Amino acid sequence: MPKQTYADRRADFAAKMPPSSIAFLASNTEARRSNDTDFKYRPDSSFFYMTGFAEPKSAMVLEKDASGELSYQLFVRPKDHDKEIWDGKRAGIEGALKNFGADKAYSVDEIDQIMPDLLLGKQVLYCRLGDSNFRNTLFSGSVDPWLSDTLRKNRGDGVPATLIDINPILYEMRLIKSPFEIAQMQTAARISCEAHKCAMKYVKPGMLEYALEGELLYIMQRAGCQVAYNSIVAGGKNACILHYTENNEPLSDGDLVLIDAGAEYQYYAADITRTFPVSGRFSEAQRQVYEVVLDAQLAAIDQMCPGKLCRDYHRAAIKVLTQGLVELGILSGDVAELIKDKAYLRYYMHGTGHWLGMDVHDVGSYADPNIPEAERTLAAGMVLTVEPGLYIPPDDQSVPAQYRGIGVRIEDDVLITESGHQLLSGDVPKTVEGIEALMQSAQDKQNGGAG
Ligand code: GLY
Ligand code: MN
Ligand code: MN
Repeated sequence: MPKQTYADRRADFAAKMPPSSIAFLASNTEARRSNDTDFKYRPDSSFFYMTGFAEPKSAMVLEKDASGELSYQLFVRPKDHDKEIWDGKRAGIEGALKNFGADKAYSVDEIDQIMPDLLLGKQVLYCRLGDSNFRNTLFSGSVDPWLSDTLRKNRGDGVPATLIDINPILYEMRLIKSPFEIAQMQTAARISCEAHKCAMKYVKPGMLEYALEGELLYIMQRAGCQVAYNSIVAGGKNACILHYTENNEPLSDGDLVLIDAGAEYQYYAADITRTFPVSGRFSEAQRQVYEVVLDAQLAAIDQMCPGKLCRDYHRAAIKVLTQGLVELGILSGDVAELIKDKAYLRYYMHGTGHWLGMDVHDVGSYADPNIPEAERTLAAGMVLTVEPGLYIPPDDQSVPAQYRGIGVRIEDDVLITESGHQLLSGDVPKTVEGIEALMQSAQDKQNGGAG
């Protein structure tokens, strides 16, 4: 992405800063996997959004002086010949200045000395406030000690007396995706669709869930992606465990398999779920449950356009799911009463979607920015998932036996446009007929038969 994009984002943020203010934002910590070995590093999304800088141990400052002059500063790992032989190249201070547009850059090792000086004379500090907002970002416990040092140094210059949470401001910016971001998300979705189709083509009874996961990972990784979150590959009743990620059981003939997997392409996520029969053919009971979920998803997608409230599509899904549960004999009673009593919660216990972007559960408030007790209205440039499901507990004796242990979710990614919406993940079948046709044609090819 051009350097100018990051500069524009910083300028947008800075436009909200008064004179004599400073903003501080750090990237993620590195995460230990085992002994001295780390997980692959992933920068904090908001930090990357503002800087385009992906190295660990980094932080940024935007400083606005009393005259309104802006200065962008980066704290980075300094160049180190020996360390770079072991761990890879570093931009260093020189690179931060030359390639990342910083007006000033420092070694991150000096941050505790430099930050109190930068805070001196400022009235307002923007930073992450509160534990839940810090998550695993660097220097989450450092702001208070820096302010204490600034107080000690203060000889009448002033110390920030107003602290403002930086997150809600960044989250509002990230909520509306630019054309460039939409293109990244289209790529993430396209590659994820390819991965899901590959799983539909290669699944076989007896295959282990992790082997099928391998097919997904292969398609994603060879296209330059990582997974946006741990993939769920859940055969049979495992699909009733919402966050099942063990993926270590055999897939049985006659069962469905639920796959919730999405690629992350250049820091933008897809989040797609498909549920399909291991054998290639839905049983009658599986088809019945599946079609209720599909109808709910289609009714929900109809509600995804500018002007609708961000929970309207959840309410539409609940209506169709509850109606379907009654028709299947799983719930009984008046549909409106059952909805009022939330009777569906036993079989549908999650929301119908969430913001999607750099984070799979992307940032942004679901409340109206001007009326906190009201829901936000959908607008062009927002991206959401739509993911109704039904999860019939295997041991629920109140349910007709043929439905027990069936878990179905269908999840797509939807961009809100000026005129309605665009499905980003439409390139993988989701009707019973579409799924069976794709799987049949793959089986025919593998058997060397017609197709
Ligand atoms: N894959 C996580 C979710 O669907 O929200
Ligand atoms: Mn998902
Ligand atoms: Mn999701």
